[in-house]
Amino acid sequence: MPRLTFHGHSCFVLESNDGTTLLIDPFLTGNPIADIGPGDLTRVDYVLFSHGHEDHIGDGFEIAQRTGAMVVSTFEIVSFAQQVKGIENAHPLHIGGGHDFAVGRIKMTPALHGGAVAGDDTGQFTTVPGGFLITLDGKTVYHAGDTALITDMQLLKGQVDVACLPIGDNFTMGPDDAVKAVAMIEPRTVIPMHYNTFDIIAQDPRAFARSVGASARVEILEPGQSYEF
Ligand code: NI
Ligand code: MN
Repeated sequence: MPRLTFHGHSCFVLESNDGTTLLIDPFLTGNPIADIGPGDLTRVDYVLFSHGHEDHIGDGFEIAQRTGAMVVSTFEIVSFAQQVKGIENAHPLHIGGGHDFAVGRIKMTPALHGGAVAGDDTGQFTTVPGGFLITLDGKTVYHAGDTALITDMQLLKGQVDVACLPIGDNFTMGPDDAVKAVAMIEPRTVIPMHYNTFDIIAQDPRAFARSVGASARVEILEPGQSYEF
């Protein structure tokens, strides 16, 4: 069974049945709730960035440089990785587009949020933010990235086994809107993310789970915990 491991904030490691490892939004250094540091990740095959903010780019470029992992993100972030960070192994996508990679299909989904890229002093790599729909081993994971509640989420209805949704409020959806997102997407399982990293996004995930009720299974992962599906 594929396995998702939470490392705090919006960082997840997704492992396929054959051990292929995808690292999503690896904010580890400077993340007060991360359970690992960037050096603890030995095998990484893909690094995915939902958008360019520092708490999502995190250690990702350095990890890609060290492990040889393929960077997958929007065209602008991939261009930044190639032109500024010297990363050759990279694949550009854009919102609404997907590609069949060796591990499975990765499609970028819309998100409503900011588009600046951390470390890009020129602003020339500013992009639109996104999320990911990742299908591997016959299962589909939706990582929403940082986003407001958007009605586009209705289009994912019936496609998602596990949805990783922000609940922190302030910069993204809060719990009330995340409950509405669950109603639109109808995933089997929801994993809340992007909360309790900082005081400004403090939330009670158990209260969120109670609000979701029986409409989906809510899996609350502490940093370091995994969920197989
Ligand atoms: Ni952000
Ligand atoms: Mn964020």
